[in-house]
Amino acid sequence: MWARGYGLVDSPKVKAIPGQTLNLKAVLAPDKKAAVEYYPALYWFSLLQVPSKSDFPGTGPNGNGIASNVKSQGQWIREIVNTDGCTGCHQMGDKATREIPNSILSQTADSKAAWDLRLQACQAGAGMSSSFNRVGRKRALAMYADWSDRIAHGELPVDVPSRPQGRERNVVITIWDWADPKVYLHDDIASDKRNPTVNANGPIYGGLEDSADYLTVLDPVRNATSKVQMRVRDPQPAPQIRRPRLRLRTGATK
Ligand code: HEC
Repeated sequence: MWARGYGLVDSPKVKAIPGQTLNLKAVLAPDKKAAVEYYPALYWFSLLQVPSKSDFPGTGPNGNGIASNVKSQGQWIREIVNTDGCTGCHQMGDKATREIPNSILSQTADSKAAWDLRLQACQAGAGMSSSFNRVGRKRALAMYADWSDRIAHGELPVDVPSRPQGRERNVVITIWDWADPKVYLHDDIASDKRNPTVNANGPIYGGLEDSADYLTVLDPVRNATSKVQMRVRDPQPAPQIRRPRLRLRTGATK
């Protein structure tokens, strides 16, 4: 267990068992740079600079790089920043999105090319990539590259999230790692919402979307996890993005 909060850094982690009383001492962040690591992703995402209102409607690839079917700044935000574009699936501004990992930087030092590469990753790559094409790929890549460049050069969130007030101060969150580091959890279910006492204290089942071929199971009472292996139709699926390297390996596309 440890104490975490805005303006703090994580206190040293200690092992504990249920029922034990612990005295945790919160640790003040030595500076803003240390504190901002714990800010909600949105505080970082707000550093993104979207094209100004006067850039719309877009004038296409030979004009300002914004597709001419993007009529307003609001539409740009909807399609390439917010709900319909990105945050409908995952948050933006967390460490994984605001920083470009070394595995990509070792392939290219150019941050626009790095964004181009990482967007095509994983089972959602085709979708992420096509939304960039729809609004004007180069311009959108430039916007994201500028954002992560400024962060890499030390720009920090401007606003400070407020500390918990009143009863919020008593919140204790329990977190379980219940799959493996190469997958992600998309959904979980503990009961049936039509009859929410079903399966009381029973296992919680997690769906990993397309990232693995098993269901992950957590028993919160015994503090144990397990797996239910699933049979998939095609154990060697074709990659979503037809990149030459993948093409050779799987022979799935021409
Ligand atoms: C259809 C759902 C979906 C949408 C929409 C989506 N993403 Fe993703 N994104 C994913 C998934 C799934 C992953 C990979 C998670 C994994 O494998 O760890 C991912 C990963 C990423 C990564 C890589 C993070 C890393 O670990 O390096 C970036 C960057 C990213 N998305 C940016 C975006 C941006 C920008 C948009 C909006 C244009 C967007 N995504 C829209 C599902 C989506």
